[in-house]
Amino acid sequence: MLDILEILQQQAISELENANSRPELDSWRIKYLGRKGLLTQKLRRISELPVEQRPQAGAAANRLKALLEERHAARHEALIKDELRKKLEETRIDVTLPGRPVRLGRLHPTTQILRHTSSIFASMGFEVVEGPEVETDYYNFEALNIPRGHPARDMWDTLWVDSANEKGEYPMLMRTHTSPMQIRFMERRQPPIRVIMPGKVYRYEAVDATHESMFYQIEGLAVDRGITMADLKGTLYEFARRLFGQDRRVRFRCDYFPFVEPGVEMAIDCFICKGEGCRVCKGEGWIEILGAGMVHPDVLRRVNYDPEIYTGFAFGLGLERIPMLKYGIDDIRLFYSNDLRFLEQF
Ligand code: PHE
Repeated sequence: MLDILEILQQQAISELENANSRPELDSWRIKYLGRKGLLTQKLRRISELPVEQRPQAGAAANRLKALLEERHAARHEALIKDELRKKLEETRIDVTLPGRPVRLGRLHPTTQILRHTSSIFASMGFEVVEGPEVETDYYNFEALNIPRGHPARDMWDTLWVDSANEKGEYPMLMRTHTSPMQIRFMERRQPPIRVIMPGKVYRYEAVDATHESMFYQIEGLAVDRGITMADLKGTLYEFARRLFGQDRRVRFRCDYFPFVEPGVEMAIDCFICKGEGCRVCKGEGWIEILGAGMVHPDVLRRVNYDPEIYTGFAFGLGLERIPMLKYGIDDIRLFYSNDLRFLEQF
């Protein structure tokens, strides 16, 4: 019996060494250590031995069983490690490969000019506030001194959102300018006020190189005791010089907006030809950049400010016009048609 076990041991161990995969290892275990395996069979036969031989044979068989189990476990572990090493080798990252270039995005030209202009006004003490693009007739027109039927409504071709109510009125619209934010802001706050309110505005337009149905404006508003036209001029002059160069000159001319009195239009001398006349200023020497004026007393009364105590100025400028002038962009449609060849230039 001891000899038989000895042979079994040799055979089992040499076969184990040749088991090179987990399925092979499994069949080996079943062959030797399984319930019907070779060693198990031998163990059963011990009971057939003469009594005096049984203890020795039993001990030898058990030792062999322990040995084979131990070897099996060791081989199993070695195989797992091997598999892992192979897997790692197959998926190894070649750190010597050149990296793929990271494609950096960039800020849209409108975002850039919006941030730039906001920071200029912020440095002059203006806060920045945003508001709704869908507006009521009240904020967009009525409260700004433009009642229903007023001919000045024709200055803003309007996109109406609602259908007419029973009185034939259209209460909701896409704001045609950022001026309704003047009212919203003054309703919430008391003077002194210094605020700019940027955002999208909408017009019912035939779209062409100089007209978009959506564009950006920045509204400015300052209200306090003793604010005069000189404050308006000084603020906007400083703004123009910071944006278009320290040697800029500005020109104010009368203009009409129902919510300001007096109303003005501001132009800068052409920063390309310095006023000589060129393509950018269309031979004028001057470029109009914004509308402004002293807040109309009726507008102040609307929000329960006493026009005998408080005065203010307001201005509104179109944002896209600034980079168009600066970079000689001749078509406003380029801004919102998502052509990367255009956008990547900024
Ligand atoms: N809201 C006017 C427009 O869109 C511009 C403006 C704003 C004029 C504030 C005067 C004061 O045309």
